[in-house]
Amino acid sequence: MERIDKLLSSTGRWSRREVKDLMRQGRVRLDGRPVSRPEEKADPASACLTVDGDRVDCSPYVYIMLHKPAGLLSATEDRDQPTVLDLLPPALRRRGLFPVGRLDKDTTGLLLLTDDGALAHRLLSPRSHVDKVYLAQVEGRVDQADREALAAGLVLGDGLRCLPAGLEPVGDGSSCLVTLREGKYHQVKRMLAARGKPVLALHRLSMGPLTLDEGLNPGNWRLLTAGERDKLMRTEPSL
Ligand code: URA
Repeated sequence: MERIDKLLSSTGRWSRREVKDLMRQGRVRLDGRPVSRPEEKADPASACLTVDGDRVDCSPYVYIMLHKPAGLLSATEDRDQPTVLDLLPPALRRRGLFPVGRLDKDTTGLLLLTDDGALAHRLLSPRSHVDKVYLAQVEGRVDQADREALAAGLVLGDGLRCLPAGLEPVGDGSSCLVTLREGKYHQVKRMLAARGKPVLALHRLSMGPLTLDEGLNPGNWRLLTAGERDKLMRTEPSL
């Protein structure tokens, strides 16, 4: 938690004295309610601070939505192969960003990158059960029996017990939407292979409240909007 006058003045837009005046004039709001005491504190990662109704970004962290292309590793560095970090400009790479969870080298789609370790920990904790939705193209066609098997919780050949997962055929069933609440190694591929429907291509569409921006081509990225960040911060473990 940080003092609100410090957070606002650290943006460089106002001095502490000016922030005090803004507060006195009732122009500063925290999560919608006026702030009158400069010493009041807020969490810079999640607070919604506005001045005259305009959102002021005080977050000390960076949150990036990336459309991961095939062929890159979801890692921060690798001796031999390119990683998703190579898609970012040097100034961002120097911040120590890392991917929140991994996509396989050949998997495409939504990847969140941040330097906010606490948020990443919360989203990835086995207890948090954040929904991840994948579009899978398979050999053969998925059917009702596959849907029921995933809904019941598959047990894979190596004994891994999967949590109940969603499966919705798309079109003729040669593609499907798979919703996981966990993220084990190669999980979608292993689950569908166990049903005799090997995955030909895999693409992540969403993770918790974040949906891949259709305007982002593979390899492109953008900062999360304030609204997206708010939703992520409010993501609670769903047991
Ligand atoms: N499941 C997989 O099999 N691969 C991924 O990249 C993500 C989920």
